Amino acid sequence: MRFTPRSGAARSLVRRGLVAVSVLALGSTMAVAAATSASAAVACSVTYSTNEWTSGPGNGGFTANLTITNVGDAVDGWTFAFTFPNSGQKVTLPGWSANWSQSGTKVTATNLDWNKSLAPGASTSIGFNGTWSGSNPTPPSFSLNGVTCNGTSSPSPSASPSASPSASPSASPSASPSSSPSPSPSASPSAPPGSHVDNPYAGATGYVNPDWSAKAASEPGGSKVANVSTAVWLDRIAAITSGSAGDNHMGLRDHLDEAVRQDAANGSAPLTVEVVIYNLPNRDCSALASNGELLIAENGLNRYKTEYIDPIAAIMADPKYKNLRIVSIVEIDSLPNLITNLNVAKCSEAKSTGAYVQGVQYALNKLHAISNVYTYVDAGHHGWLGWDTNLGPSADLFAETARGTTAGYASVDGFITNTANYSALTEPYYTIDTKVNGTSVRQSRWVDWNQYVDELSYAQAFRNTLISKGFPSTLGMLIDTSRNGWGGTARPARASTSTDVNTFVDESRIDRRIHAGNWCNQSGAGLGERPKANPAAGLDAYVWIKPPGESDGSSSAIPNDEGKGFDQMCDPTYRGNERNGNNLTGALANAPVSGHWFSSQFQELLRNAYPPLS
Ligand code: BGC
Repeated sequence: MRFTPRSGAARSLVRRGLVAVSVLALGSTMAVAAATSASAAVACSVTYSTNEWTSGPGNGGFTANLTITNVGDAVDGWTFAFTFPNSGQKVTLPGWSANWSQSGTKVTATNLDWNKSLAPGASTSIGFNGTWSGSNPTPPSFSLNGVTCNGTSSPSPSASPSASPSASPSASPSASPSSSPSPSPSASPSAPPGSHVDNPYAGATGYVNPDWSAKAASEPGGSKVANVSTAVWLDRIAAITSGSAGDNHMGLRDHLDEAVRQDAANGSAPLTVEVVIYNLPNRDCSALASNGELLIAENGLNRYKTEYIDPIAAIMADPKYKNLRIVSIVEIDSLPNLITNLNVAKCSEAKSTGAYVQGVQYALNKLHAISNVYTYVDAGHHGWLGWDTNLGPSADLFAETARGTTAGYASVDGFITNTANYSALTEPYYTIDTKVNGTSVRQSRWVDWNQYVDELSYAQAFRNTLISKGFPSTLGMLIDTSRNGWGGTARPARASTSTDVNTFVDESRIDRRIHAGNWCNQSGAGLGERPKANPAAGLDAYVWIKPPGESDGSSSAIPNDEGKGFDQMCDPTYRGNERNGNNLTGALANAPVSGHWFSSQFQELLRNAYPPLS
């Protein structure tokens, strides 16, 4: 189901280095006890992260992303300020998600209409591009409505009538950013249950799908991961209702009832449950292994709306589920196929009829309308869209699709990359800027002029591009890390010393696939990072969307009643096509139909887990 085209890669070397990412959770020992009104105590915490690059000796540019979390009383209207330590640091106006201005070294941002109110526990993300000369240090302190953000709630003003409203950041130059870091800013500890928070994963526990968990636990060694949260896939209409597929699978209500039970057993932490929305007409248009039940030519778009999305939305909107954080993963492999695969008839039909875009918009409209439902749209993976010639047009299509929904950009909480794919999260032994004997790794056969070598750098850059197209900077990314661990005995332990760029990359890369375009049941793969909230700048979470052990497609044709086809990319003897550089597929033998349990793959994923299983 993960179709990867061969790149139409631009041949120019674009200078875009991600040289620094810093995330600072500000905390300090400063006493701040100020109030803006008789009844409101202002308190805040801030993260400030930068992607920075050098344009020449001692100067360059940067992108700064800030998240302001209100840890005090409700705020209605705000002015946020900080002072750059260095007079060579400049905000390039206009910035985003606030009205930015700079006078000397002092920078001020005031709210826009849509992010004016910050409930207790709520966050808002704002940002700007800038330039620096000399150096680009992190500002030592930040203030909200004149009160320094130190991550803790100030005493209530009525209890402290002597609170000094004159406390201001400039009066507190000794703020020490490195002392006592504040709790994770988006943990939203006091957000009322059921309210729509910025990052649904922050401070939450993940739903354990009993269906998957039982299969994992029945495998030798499987109990080590059987309690990991994995997604529920609604991959056909019958999956919504229990038993209706002629088996005893749990339907959506069964899962949400079970989630409510797990939530109650779980103390005060909220529970996140992930549901994959995956049934567009002409699904998986460029591959065969995950073809679905609906066709555009057979009234598929209407059936998708009325028989699939409507019943799902009706169940999710049931008030008994209102305290769950329901994360919907919206239609993997759909919109990206409209960028790269229009030479395939089923994809061009999906484009010319508007069925994919309208289907996704319909899903976003219905799902976003439910306040405790979060929407993450699929954004391919670096080995698919990582060339600028694909990434820019994809971001434009995503922006256009979102603008066509009722709530516009707000209908999308974030995007997900690497769903059901195998791309390494980070390549530890080289980056896109590595040169081998003067030759860029971009010129190696493996990287093939891509702008990224791994998923984390791709997801972060994609997010910046999406924000530059108009999405709000509250946008959070997810990365599916269920099968991209690449541990085990074949994992390199250090960078190669070869001076040949191809040998260097092949010996250094942890992603051991034959070609980055291979996607089916990859031999040698291992479980990746366990699900985790706020793992890196711009990321809401690492997640396990593809349940490990479920096949990507059968290695030979197997009759089935799910509409699944046989894709040669799942056949280990197939010698490939132009999309994988005419290489072998690297698929494991004896695989069942996609979604069915593939015990020997699960065993290999356990063996090659990275981080290793303890
Ligand atoms: C299949 C789905 C399955 C999902 C999760 C997809 O490749 O097409 O039927 O539910 O994987 O395993």
